[in-house]
Amino acid sequence: ENVNADGYARTYRLFARADTAHADRLGDLAAPALFMTGSEDRNSTPAMSAAMARLAPAGQCAVLSGERHMMTIASPQKVTQRIMAFLDQASNASTNAEAGPPFDAMEFRRALGSFLTGVTIVTTIDDAGDPRGFTANSFTSVSLDPPLVLVCIAKRALGHQAFSTSRGFAVNILAEDQKAASGIFASKAADKFASVAWQPGQTGNPLIGGSVAVFDCDLEQLVDAGDHSILIGRVHDFTHNGAQPLGYCRGAYVTPGLSQEALAAAAPPGTEVGVILENEGRVLFFETAEGSYQLPAGRGLGSANEPRSLKGKLAAKAIDAELGFLYAVWDDAADASRTHVYYRGTVDAPVSGDGQIRFIDIDRIAELKIADPAVRSMLARYARERAEDMFGVYVGNEVEGEVRPLAKPEPSAPIHSGPIHSGQR
Ligand SMILES: Cc1cc2nc3c(=O)[nH]c(=O)nc-3n(C[C@H](O)[C@H](O)[C@H](O)COP(=O)(O)O)c2cc1C
Repeated sequence: ENVNADGYARTYRLFARADTAHADRLGDLAAPALFMTGSEDRNSTPAMSAAMARLAPAGQCAVLSGERHMMTIASPQKVTQRIMAFLDQASNASTNAEAGPPFDAMEFRRALGSFLTGVTIVTTIDDAGDPRGFTANSFTSVSLDPPLVLVCIAKRALGHQAFSTSRGFAVNILAEDQKAASGIFASKAADKFASVAWQPGQTGNPLIGGSVAVFDCDLEQLVDAGDHSILIGRVHDFTHNGAQPLGYCRGAYVTPGLSQEALAAAAPPGTEVGVILENEGRVLFFETAEGSYQLPAGRGLGSANEPRSLKGKLAAKAIDAELGFLYAVWDDAADASRTHVYYRGTVDAPVSGDGQIRFIDIDRIAELKIADPAVRSMLARYARERAEDMFGVYVGNEVEGEVRPLAKPEPSAPIHSGPIHSGQR
């Protein structure tokens, strides 16, 4: 009732006509421009802000997660922070503008390629409800609390529009046997998803079967960065398994797991192949009748139906092990023709029903009677390294930090099992 009808009409006439007058001028905007909205804003949608940012030559789009139309009033601090960051960035860019020496773009790409990475397929659902995806190795973990990850998408990618305006995306970390899928999702094929088994996750984003790990994310922030956009995702849900991850380096795939299996498989027949199998801080041993302890080991890696081989021995005791990376290789002091090859691995639940199987806490391994001195010293190294990486955590920020040990819980104290907060120093 108190609304001024004339004023209201005038304002809405302006809304309706302003686009025709101004939209084409965005391309002439020389100054850096920030187009910001809330992820829940139905009037000024993230898609609209992203489209404007693309039209403006130095435009960037920011979508504030969970905010709505009145975000300047509802969350002034959040909005101001984002504007301040934008202004800082704009003023740094102008001071760095003095051109440095030109450099070779191909060489730059080659140098970047020496960084060994994994391979992911990043997926989303576009406006039409169709699944979209592209292969990416620019995946990076960003923050533990809140849980954030990022991936960079080229502005040239056909999927750029779909990803930069989406509500979220899923990152599927590929396994060694998913090279073919990586190739298809790195192509411009029309129906990339016909070639893989997938299902929608909790957020609807496509999750690809057989992946080593999957992070299902809401789009937290879209950052404009040169010829790419950085998609920062807030992890909503994730899964992972023990399969071997696919790697990528210098323009080619690398398969560390397969190479290591090939090494053990090709080893001379006398080779002892063993494994340190871990389950929640304990290592699996076989206790002999004389009270000494042995790691699972056999003649060669073999297969389940070769009883003398490692895989045969594990199968005979119904141990469902996941072999990981190679841990140690040494020649026998007494017989130089005999090589010992040991893997690291994991085993699911402690297996019962076999009187010989023992799970020993890592820090108690030193007390065990172990006949082979080489195995004993390998296990001492394992215990040392394991104590460091298991109870250490990286603390710091993007410019400085260090790995610090966390206090180990006393055996009698309740084990704190919540997420690690960055404030817990
Ligand atoms: C191993 C590998 C890693 C890649 N990483 C990225 C990446 O991080 N970001 C990106 O935009 N493209 C990356 N690409 C290229 C895209 O997968 C490729 O351009 C794809 O065609 C994009 O799909 P679209 O154009 O259908 O959206 C990568 C390709 C390969 C093979």
